[in-house]
Amino acid sequence: MSKPRSESINTIPIPCKIIFLGESGVGKTTIINRYVQKNKFDPENTIAAISFNKKIRIDQLEFELQIWDTAGQEQYRSITTLFYKEASVCILVYDITIKSSFTQIKDYWYNSVKEKGAKDVILAIIGNKCDLFEKEEVSQDEVKDYCESINAIFKVVSAKEGIGIDKLFEEIIEKFKESQFMEELINKYLNKEQRKTLIDSKKLKLDNDEDNSNKFKKKKCC
Ligand code: GTP
Repeated sequence: MSKPRSESINTIPIPCKIIFLGESGVGKTTIINRYVQKNKFDPENTIAAISFNKKIRIDQLEFELQIWDTAGQEQYRSITTLFYKEASVCILVYDITIKSSFTQIKDYWYNSVKEKGAKDVILAIIGNKCDLFEKEEVSQDEVKDYCESINAIFKVVSAKEGIGIDKLFEEIIEKFKESQFMEELINKYLNKEQRKTLIDSKKLKLDNDEDNSNKFKKKKCC
């Protein structure tokens, strides 16, 4: 019989606001559809912005992702900037088969987020449509170097094939969990007892890690 999943520490999910940005047609809506509505693959052009909610549990904490899909078309840019401030995470998407969609991240989207987004916003740069790798126009090494220079997560995915999408969101939440946004949210969404449970569970994790690293050291030197 399989072991029952342990309960989450918090009863009210911790909100995490994520915004998707990038040129029109890079696949923002398709990535979100794939993640939120699983098998949906029939996007239309986004008009201005639209939001989706999804709950996710990582370790013992429950999060409510509020995912904002924005329109890449130039005519909506003044509207989409209104949504930056609220987001803790900005996901900048490019299409691996269109070089200019990555150039625009460097020349426009990144600067725009830095100027109008939250301080210390978590950044991720996503190369979508990796199922079309034979038509790749953007060097992954170049993107990797760029991401390192701006401290952004880098992932290559295919919304069409569903490759790398779940992993992308898990990695983002892991980073969000360790970010300065969490401090305030934990105080707001967890009561005293829940906060204590969280601290104890972290301590337990650290103790376990220590045990494991000792075991590893012992193994290595034998
Ligand atoms: P805007 O709403 O105009 O900003 O566009 P968007 O970035 O939301 O792009 P959208 O999700 O509408 O996708 C644009 C086109 O790319 C659609 O025809 C999708 O079917 C296609 N597409 C999206 N993701 C993939 C993918 O991973 N692989 C392939 N081959 N096509 C994809």
